[in-house]
Amino acid sequence: MPVDPRAAQGFSSTAALYDRMRPSYPIEAVRAAARALGVGVTSTVLDLAAGTGKLTAVLDEVAGRVIAVDPSPPMLDVLRRRLPGVRALDGEAAAIPLPDASVDAIFVGEALHWFDLQRAAPEMARVLRPGGGLGLIWNHLRLDEDADPRVHAVRDLLTPYRVAAGEFPSSGVAVWGPRLVESGRFAAGRRLDVAAHEQPLRADDFVALASTWSWVANLEPEAQATVLMLAREIVGGRPVTLTYDVELWVVSPRPG
Ligand SMILES: C[S@@+](CC[C@H](N)C(=O)[O-])C[C@H]1O[C@@H](n2cnc3c(N)ncnc32)[C@H](O)[C@@H]1O
Repeated sequence: MPVDPRAAQGFSSTAALYDRMRPSYPIEAVRAAARALGVGVTSTVLDLAAGTGKLTAVLDEVAGRVIAVDPSPPMLDVLRRRLPGVRALDGEAAAIPLPDASVDAIFVGEALHWFDLQRAAPEMARVLRPGGGLGLIWNHLRLDEDADPRVHAVRDLLTPYRVAAGEFPSSGVAVWGPRLVESGRFAAGRRLDVAAHEQPLRADDFVALASTWSWVANLEPEAQATVLMLAREIVGGRPVTLTYDVELWVVSPRPG
């Protein structure tokens, strides 16, 4: 399977809204991963599955040169408009359009769970220079007892659609960790501690954000309109502040 059709469809249909609504990444988190991977101002890094360039923009502040790769033309169009100085290439994790040993590190934001790692792990290892590793980052919406009850209610409303959409190919460290190690190219990952961050949103924008979640974006238009209308009723008119816990890992190449 090349790119999971749920990703190909879901992200291509929402690129502009995705870029407007999805959270960015704290620069301290990206700096911490860069330090751990030995990335500095003379390094070239690949932002793999770069999407509209949310992580690319932060990496651009930290590394010497950033190359962005993504398989979705509409996502890449947004990236090229917002970051005209970044080299942006059409490609996917299992077929990276770069020569062997051409980058010092690879970063993946909110996307490793979409990869077929049996094919992607050797390909990532191919383009890394000797000693180069991976920086893997996700923003997880915090849903604890302190979270706004409307955020809980909207997630509850949407959960059946997430379940119906099925598992991601490589979701969670318990899945992707062993797959990277089994590839023979990478060591076990090391998780870095990073502070949570917040995203204040207008009420409508929270619903717009939810519409970019792949399992909502991929609903038939009528079902999507109905569920988003119900979400709007739950949220009402008051703004919402979301809290994100950052999951950040660095993965070194296998020694020897
Ligand atoms: C949730 S978005 C993340 C985009 C960006 N990294 C960010 O942090 O906002 C997931 C991205 O993964 C890309 N993607 C999905 N499957 C992929 C694959 N097999 N190889 C490379 N990119 C892929 C999609 O096109 C999409 O842009």
